[in-house]
Amino acid sequence: MGLQIFKGNIIFAPAPGELKICARSHIVVKDGIVEGIYERLPEEYGKEPVKDYGERLILPGFVDLHVHASQLYQCGLGLDRELIDWLNDYTFYVESRFSDPAYAREAYSLFADELVRQGTVRACIFATIHKESTGLLFEILQEKGIGAFVGKVNMDRNCPDFLQEETEVSIKETEELIARYGRHPLVKPILTPRFAPACSGELLKAIGDLAKKYNLPVQSHLSENPREVEWVRELFPSHPTYSDVYLDFGLFGRYAPALMAHGIYLTDRELDLIKANDVMLVHCPESNINLASGIMPVRKWLNRGIRVGLGSDVGASHNLAMSKAIVRAVQLSKLLKIFSPRHEKPLTIAEAFYMATKGGGSFFGKVGSFEKGYSFDAVIVEDDPRIAGGLSLEEQFQRFLYTGDANNIIACFVAGRQLGLRCD
Ligand code: GUN
Ligand code: FE
Repeated sequence: MGLQIFKGNIIFAPAPGELKICARSHIVVKDGIVEGIYERLPEEYGKEPVKDYGERLILPGFVDLHVHASQLYQCGLGLDRELIDWLNDYTFYVESRFSDPAYAREAYSLFADELVRQGTVRACIFATIHKESTGLLFEILQEKGIGAFVGKVNMDRNCPDFLQEETEVSIKETEELIARYGRHPLVKPILTPRFAPACSGELLKAIGDLAKKYNLPVQSHLSENPREVEWVRELFPSHPTYSDVYLDFGLFGRYAPALMAHGIYLTDRELDLIKANDVMLVHCPESNINLASGIMPVRKWLNRGIRVGLGSDVGASHNLAMSKAIVRAVQLSKLLKIFSPRHEKPLTIAEAFYMATKGGGSFFGKVGSFEKGYSFDAVIVEDDPRIAGGLSLEEQFQRFLYTGDANNIIACFVAGRQLGLRCD
């Protein structure tokens, strides 16, 4: 790939809440990795071609740490229900359609296109229980050049017949996908037990064994809804908490990093376990509003030293755009403050932006920033010059997050490779 040089208004968050703004600057990329940012290009690069994006913004590509590729068509449907009813009345049926690979090929292609269109260049993705369709998702993402962890969902109880696996089949097919897709540099397998209520102890134990055998990361759901938490207590009476179930079966960061979506209703013991095992929580604000799940006290978790990233959680969220998840995270933290004034100060835009770039990107390695040594993952953002022309760069950045959409994103890059250029 060699040397690439991009020029524009570069904005990124090297630390939570800290925005670095480099006006009309150059970013030098070698073999897909950021070499440095320069206002004036050093002489050694003087003869190299420069891709000049003019007044456009160059931001790190967005990272969605929790999304269900199989639920894109379901966005906006049945959202007057809470979690368990929403799963039973809508979601399981929608996912059952992925038993048909032809349907899956079309739906997953559309999902991948939509991710790129919205500026999401890395994602941790739930597929469904279906092996063949999940294989197609791996291949489609590889083809598009998107960075991803992809999980075949495991579930062997408390679901309808048409979406319930035999325990042994679930394990065998998961292992077959690992064998087939485990060596790609950008699209990798992740173990994906749906959530504790949909998995027998036997299945959870076997998935933990796979985590150990292959050193594979794990993603699941944790403490999203009070009824769900109570259900886990009934199903696993010998485990003191929901987190203890995953911990006991080796799914809580023991062998490789773990991602847990939601994490709203957590006890002190669980917060200690999460911290001690460096489990990363994924805040999914839009989903939490739609399913009336609750509000994650993000700042409280951050203050305890817990890592928190951002997820869309489509289709419980109706929005794949991470710019919208950033705004919702900020808005929800304000509501928490309004309704419970004892809560500490709301999140800032720069803090939520960090969660959706470098914070979440840490699950992938050196991703989500433009510091030296980071993967050049980027989105190029343009605005109407009649409005943007009168604004500072920070204001242009804020305006894009709040009022912009996919139409403002004119190109995306992963590791220096361009994914979806629509204009120069
Ligand atoms: N818990 C178990 N399955 C799901 C799902 O598909 N979406 C959400 N939001 N929570 C879940
Ligand atoms: Fe989810």
